[in-house]
Amino acid sequence: MTRKDKPNTPEKRILIAEDSRSQSAMLSDILTDSGYAVTAAKDGLEGLQRLPEVRPDLVISDVWMPRMNGYEFCESIRQDEGLGDTPVILLTSLSNIRDIIRGLEAGADYFITKPYSEELLLSTVESILSSGQSQSRNDPKVSVETELEGVALNILVSPQTVFNFFRTTYENLLHDNHQLGRAKLDLKKLNDHLEEKVKEKTRGLEEEIVERKKAETALKESFENLRSTLDGTVRALATTIEMRDPYTAGHQRRVSELACAIAKEMGGSAEDIKGMEVMGFLHDIGKIVVPAEILSKPGKLNDLEFNMIKAHSQAGHNILKGIEFPWPVSAAVLQHHERLNGSGYPGGLKGPEIAHEARIIAVADVVESMASHRPYRPALGIEAALGEVTQHKGTLYDPDAVDACVNLFTVRGFVLT
Ligand SMILES: [Fe+2]
Repeated sequence: MTRKDKPNTPEKRILIAEDSRSQSAMLSDILTDSGYAVTAAKDGLEGLQRLPEVRPDLVISDVWMPRMNGYEFCESIRQDEGLGDTPVILLTSLSNIRDIIRGLEAGADYFITKPYSEELLLSTVESILSSGQSQSRNDPKVSVETELEGVALNILVSPQTVFNFFRTTYENLLHDNHQLGRAKLDLKKLNDHLEEKVKEKTRGLEEEIVERKKAETALKESFENLRSTLDGTVRALATTIEMRDPYTAGHQRRVSELACAIAKEMGGSAEDIKGMEVMGFLHDIGKIVVPAEILSKPGKLNDLEFNMIKAHSQAGHNILKGIEFPWPVSAAVLQHHERLNGSGYPGGLKGPEIAHEARIIAVADVVESMASHRPYRPALGIEAALGEVTQHKGTLYDPDAVDACVNLFTVRGFVLT
């Protein structure tokens, strides 16, 4: 109800005692907007001092304030000779029965629970102002005996005041219940909204996961395609060599298979083994520079011819060094005829100077060559081949690679095909 609604009603004066400036301003605004003349005091003491000057029709007081609290303020009003009948509303949390009894004893007429609804406040104010004076002081008091937390209490109160407290308690509860219902409804709406948001987000995430999986699959496919292209290229290169040197047909494939098996036996990863496969296939690629008649010459080679054959390591390195493999392919190709004691070629490298991969290829190459037929000699057989690498284990050949190779044939049943 606003001033506009009640233009002819003479202004009723309300004195507020409230220490919180924001709450005092809010209360003043609500009452002023409804056509009441409001005076605000910052606590009970100031309220009491301004009481004779304002002569309010109603006092609304907070309970907990510095200097003089709401109960003391109410008691002081009741003791005032001329203004003791002024109705008093206490603004309180009143969550405790002691607070209610203290309010009754102090002679308050009503209480309103904070935070209050504007509607409840104005309807209470209007109801009190229409009934006029406070019944708290004028009505006959009765002695009420009660027990609180095991302590017997005797309170002197007017029945009307007790009724008013009950009524306002009920109204406050009703209001709180209404607020609770509204809060529950708001919460439900919020929950529904949240659920929808979560579903939306989940849908978005699911779509993202599907997209990422697609991208991952495409990437994997592309990688597989590249790998397969690389495999094809490597095999094509190997075949090119074998076409010029038919007596060594299948040599590179078999070296590749044995080198992979040795690497696996030595605990190499899947990626290491893939590298060995490529290096095995390409280790003799440099033979492309050696004349075909020398490669397939059935008799003993002279020094010049042998030097031409030996050049294949460096030539293979030169062909491959510009290609960025994920494995040390060109180094392994360059070093696959190096020997641990420095007697190999082309660099005469010793021990740790020789790459791990080159040492494996060296063992696989020697074993495969000796076990197979060559233009200048028949096949010597796998036992002779294993005997050769075992005899020179640690001097010419890497001991771990030799052990792994021997183990493959003697224990695991590996066969060169
Ligand atoms: Fe070779």
